[in-house]
This record gives sequence, C-alpha cells and structure tokens, in this order.
Amino acid sequence: MISVNKMSWFKYYKEQVKIIRERDPAIKNDLEVLLYPSFRALYSYRKAHKHYLKGHFFRARVISQRAARKTGIEIHPGATIGEGFFIDHGNGVIIGETAIIGNNVTLYQGVTLGGTGKETGKRHPTIGNNVMISAGAKVIGSFTVGDNSKIGAGSVVLSEVPPNSTVVGIPGRVVKREDVRLPQLDLDQIHLPDPVLNDINVLKQENDELKRAIKKLVDKVAKAEREGKL
Ligand SMILES: CC(C)(COP(=O)(O)OP(=O)(O)OC[C@H]1O[C@@H](n2cnc3c(N)ncnc32)[C@H](O)[C@@H]1OP(=O)(O)O)[C@@H](O)C(=O)NCCC(=O)NCCS
Repeated sequence: MISVNKMSWFKYYKEQVKIIRERDPAIKNDLEVLLYPSFRALYSYRKAHKHYLKGHFFRARVISQRAARKTGIEIHPGATIGEGFFIDHGNGVIIGETAIIGNNVTLYQGVTLGGTGKETGKRHPTIGNNVMISAGAKVIGSFTVGDNSKIGAGSVVLSEVPPNSTVVGIPGRVVKREDVRLPQLDLDQIHLPDPVLNDINVLKQENDELKRAIKKLVDKVAKAEREGKL
C-alpha cells in the first residue's frame, strides 16, 4: 500500500512523472504532471487516508471532498490503493470506501468502483494488479477483478472477473481470456454449469412425477373400493 506519511512531496512528484510518462503518450514535459487531476486527487487521498486510519473520519472526508470539487475525482478516504495507480482525465471517477485497488492499475474518466446498495461491510470491488478500467465503466459489487484484466469502455460489471480477461458490455461479459477470443455462443465464463445442482434438479423433477403417478393410483383404488369393485 502507498506509504502515506513518509513520502515527501518531491518524491511523490517524481513517482507520478514516471507513472504518467509510462501511461499517457500525450504528456510532453514533466511539469505538465502538476496539471493532471490524478496528481492532486491522489496526493489528497494519501493525506485523507492517513486521517481515516487514525479514526479522524470527518477531517478525512473534508480533504477528500475538497479534492473531489477541484478534480472531479472522488476517492473515499477508506479505500485502499496500491502502488503505481493512475487515473487518466479523471472527471466523474468515484471510488467507494471498501474498494481495494492493487498495483499498477489505470482508470479512465467516468469509472465507478461502487456498491450495489444491497451489501453491507465490504461493498465495493477488489481490483487486481495491472488492471485497466476504461472510460465510463461501472464495476459494482464486492467481487474481484482478476490481475491483468481489461474492462471495456461503458461496461457494467456485476460479477467476478477471472485474471487475464477482457470484459465488455452490459452486463459485462468475458470476451477474451489469455488473449484468446471466446466464441460468441459461450460468452459467459463466470457462471459455469453446476453438475451437482443439475442432478438435484433432475431428481426433483422425477420425484414430482412419481408423486403424481402414485396419487393417481391411490385415487383409482379408492374409487374402486367405493364402487365395491375391490
Ligand atoms: C476493451 C478494450 C480495452 C480492448 O481490449 P482488447 O482485449 O484488446 O479487446 P479487443 O479489442 O480484441 O475486443 C474484443 C471484442 O470486444 C469488443 N469490444 C471491445 N471494446 C468494447 C466495448 N467497449 N464495448 C463493447 N464491445 C467491445 C470488440 O469489438 C471485440 O469483439 P469481436 O471479438 O466481436 O471483434 C477497448 O476496446 C476499450 O474499451 N478501450 C477503451 C479505452 C479507453 O477508455 N480510452 C479512453 C481514452 S480517453
């Protein structure tokens, strides 16, 4: 996790220059780094997170909300963020309190790492190392996005993403795994069939049919007895 108290401003600046130069071909000179919303938002996040960890929740929120107003990037001070994090452009990015972000993760504008509103405790996603989440994507829920995965622009991801996958669409589906395209008819690599559940369902169905057949027989016997045929 990012060391919040030890790193000097200058060290932070040099680290950000390295990260942004690696990921954004648009940058022309190092001073431009100071103009990136990500630069300011992450610096504030470090301060806010430090207060949050000490239980100074209000002070932490003041810092993060002030940064959100200036940058358009709202990072809850409770979120856990790894090394080498970068948010390109940034406007409209929201990162929830219980989100956990691994190392070398890149987000673009409009990304939400949010909750569904149905969960308590850990409500936000865990993002693995080297993950890229494209513009406008919404990743919602407390599941994990595996290492080295890519989330396509505009996707809405609602369930676990295996490592080394590309996910696109609403709801998000795995279209590529280990750089191999998955056949269109077999897009869902997350909800794999459950053979035990299938067997139980078949047994239930057969049991219902047996019950119906026995009831028919019992009714026939009762009728025959009433009519004195037995
Ligand atoms: C997902 C993405 C990262 C590409 O990942 P990739 O692993 O190289 O995947 P591919 O380009 O091979 O695409 C795989 C399939 O998903 C489809 N696809 C890719 N991105 C998609 C998207 N955002 N929505 C829907 N479908 C998408 C492709 O058309 C392709 O379909 P096909 O197999 O039928 O041809 C990229 O398409 C994307 O969304 N980039 C946006 C980056 C961004 O936010 N830039 C903003 C800069 S300001």
